[in-house]
Amino acid sequence: MPTNLSALLPSLMLSLAALASACKSIPNPMSTKPPASLPPAAAFGKTKAGESATVWTLKNSRGLIAKVTDYGATLVELHVPDKAGKLADVVLGFGDVAGYEGGDNQYFGCTTGRVCNRIAKGKFTLNGKEYTLAINNDPNHLHGGKERSLSKVMWRGAPYETRRGKELVEQGVVFTYTSPAGEEGYPGTLLVTVTIALTRESELRMDYEARLQDAAPGDATPINLTNHAYFNLAGAGSATVLDHLLKLEADQYTPTDDTLIPTGELKPVKGSELDFGKPHRIGDRIPADTTPWKGYDHNFVVNGKAGEMRLAATVKDPASGRVMEIHTREPGIQFYTGNFLKGQTGKGGKTYPHRSAICLETQHFPDSVNQPKFPSTIYKEGQTYRTSTIHKFRAE
Ligand code: GAL
Repeated sequence: MPTNLSALLPSLMLSLAALASACKSIPNPMSTKPPASLPPAAAFGKTKAGESATVWTLKNSRGLIAKVTDYGATLVELHVPDKAGKLADVVLGFGDVAGYEGGDNQYFGCTTGRVCNRIAKGKFTLNGKEYTLAINNDPNHLHGGKERSLSKVMWRGAPYETRRGKELVEQGVVFTYTSPAGEEGYPGTLLVTVTIALTRESELRMDYEARLQDAAPGDATPINLTNHAYFNLAGAGSATVLDHLLKLEADQYTPTDDTLIPTGELKPVKGSELDFGKPHRIGDRIPADTTPWKGYDHNFVVNGKAGEMRLAATVKDPASGRVMEIHTREPGIQFYTGNFLKGQTGKGGKTYPHRSAICLETQHFPDSVNQPKFPSTIYKEGQTYRTSTIHKFRAE
């Protein structure tokens, strides 16, 4: 297959999935048995509402294995080799859908939205109309809401793979979900597609697409999507991430008030505990538990041009040698040190203590919908939201 055609395939898959969802006459890809070479599916339990969840296993030729489920379009497992070739699952999660629906789930690995992070007091005004959203992180709205955020609904998953001759280029699942108008208080019916793929370059790639459906000219809605994976490169369940080294490609951050709502300014990180221009051990300067953010929980402004794919963060676990790079088109990245983890039990009986994982959530800045100076998160009828984030792994 010519290189340019295979490079186009992921976006072709996105369009096909969107088309399938828009056109009822196209059968659900899960209702016909996929060819044997596609990423295999397995049952992942039933939701409280009685829906059957599925988990797919993605592999690449360098030993990486990922598992993804249709509940919340969630990354469930990610096995990455260390410098001796030994695999460890480096993301927090649960062994079945009941775990993800339970009170111990703090957005582990999910697709987060319709608007990730916080919206001040759960209110915004658009086209002259005020919208009120759930206050699920008092006094603010967090991660798309309480009951029907994108992390808490069942998506439709369509597995695929791309080969060049016999060589496996990537395996992935295209997840689609149509969020009805008014769901969690957000305006407009929104068709969302998230592709989670594992590539032969040892990348976990997430491609996002969303647009309003059945909307009238002038209709608009805010969109800000991310994945909320919690990483511990020593293996999920390891005691802490304080020994990880972090480098952030960010000269500025967005300071907040005590409820983590941005003040609207951009401030330089230089000389502060937020300066990760050179790699730093995370534990060396971590803000105290007594600060309003209880550790690191800050949105950084990624250097370079938003919209272009560029390096945002590099994390290394010196003991195992595992390194993760995060590349994104997004303007910001939320660095959070699992300050609210409470020792809950996850997959394989492992526990997740305070600060035992980091999240690096690529995003538009928090509360953008109320911040005229921040890059806009508003999408109008006819416009398509598109973004991508890549997690690239190596060991050294
Ligand atoms: C992060 C957020 C934290 C916390 C966490 C979920 O994205 O910045 O403040 O809410 O999600 O527990």
